[in-house]
Amino acid sequence: MYLTKEEELIYDGEFGWAQQKCMTILVRLGELFGGTRLIPIDSAHVSGVSYKTLGDAPIEFLKALAESDGKARVETTLNPQSLDQEYLGKLLKENIVEKQLTILKQFERMGFKQSLTCTPYYLREPKRNTHLAWAESSAVVYANSVLDAWTNREGGPSALAAAIIGKTPNYGIHQPKNRVPSVLVDVETPPQNETEFGALGILLGEILKDEIPKIQGIRGATSDQLKQLGAALASTGMVNMFCRGHRRLRGETQATQRITVEAREIAKTIERLSVTSISKPDLVFIGCPHCSLDEMKQIACLAEGKRVKADTEFWVCTSRYIRQIARNHVKRIEETGGHVLDGVCTIVSYPEMLGVKTIMTNSAKTAYYAPTLNKTAVILAPLKECVRTAIGG
Ligand code: F3S
Repeated sequence: MYLTKEEELIYDGEFGWAQQKCMTILVRLGELFGGTRLIPIDSAHVSGVSYKTLGDAPIEFLKALAESDGKARVETTLNPQSLDQEYLGKLLKENIVEKQLTILKQFERMGFKQSLTCTPYYLREPKRNTHLAWAESSAVVYANSVLDAWTNREGGPSALAAAIIGKTPNYGIHQPKNRVPSVLVDVETPPQNETEFGALGILLGEILKDEIPKIQGIRGATSDQLKQLGAALASTGMVNMFCRGHRRLRGETQATQRITVEAREIAKTIERLSVTSISKPDLVFIGCPHCSLDEMKQIACLAEGKRVKADTEFWVCTSRYIRQIARNHVKRIEETGGHVLDGVCTIVSYPEMLGVKTIMTNSAKTAYYAPTLNKTAVILAPLKECVRTAIGG
């Protein structure tokens, strides 16, 4: 890889251990995937923030980076952690809370924004055609497909390294020729709600692996529905972006393969993801990916004036930022006995330690991961049905 004079000096350790380590990670990655140089990024988004997903070993590495003056050179946001201070922080074991705080402290020392969300694009929407180094797969697909910003699917360490150097290698989806769809997908009947969009994503991720689809038949989808589609697509496949039928991309050529998705296949996927015959969940969870302002409003309108059932937990997860600007909706949800938790989600937390056996959710991504990561059964249903189940209205 070509390095500028300054980059070479960083690589040789002239600017300290943290920068040298990060530059080494980026150069190795670039060499591995055919990058030819480093390009400046507009922002970085780092995953592996939750103690549950990070574990103990990387904590020492984070400490060493912070001690060696590792500092974010570009705006850097963080993925959700394993708890929130107000609710789960009081229910979970002390050592989990301590470890989590230690992790957050190291990121804070390096100047990373304590955004703690998988939807950093609600805090600051990246401009079109800007290069990013984002590590949360659902946010990566959303950035590439809906916002037309450009990012590979980074791992935690490479996003961290890119944040500290302010650059990323120019391979993969940073190159226009790699942003061209190769499979044409015809969706026969447009999905009717966010859960069906998620199920479509699960199905396509399994079929496409890392091929970029051009999806026809989803015109009129809302940004929240596209968010669900992308999150699910990235769960079962390595797809980093999708195009919609009416969009023309630079250099686009004719897709070589064509597949058709029928409504019954989407319905079957939902059935397959609902891995229980139990109809009563212990926990109803909405907010994967983290709720938008509009979703907060919808939930508040559906729940207002009612009470959450005595034997049911109702969690709505979002970022601190959305929580603040959605204050009125938060109040209406909390008055029902539901919990609006910021900076966390069930998958990267420990509902299983709180006795949760069955989760009901509108998110296909959560339905896909919860049986393994939370050891729970799952009921997958649209938002309206989830809220109705939680509050019994
Ligand atoms: Fe976000 Fe957690 Fe889902 S990090 S995308 S809410 S699994």
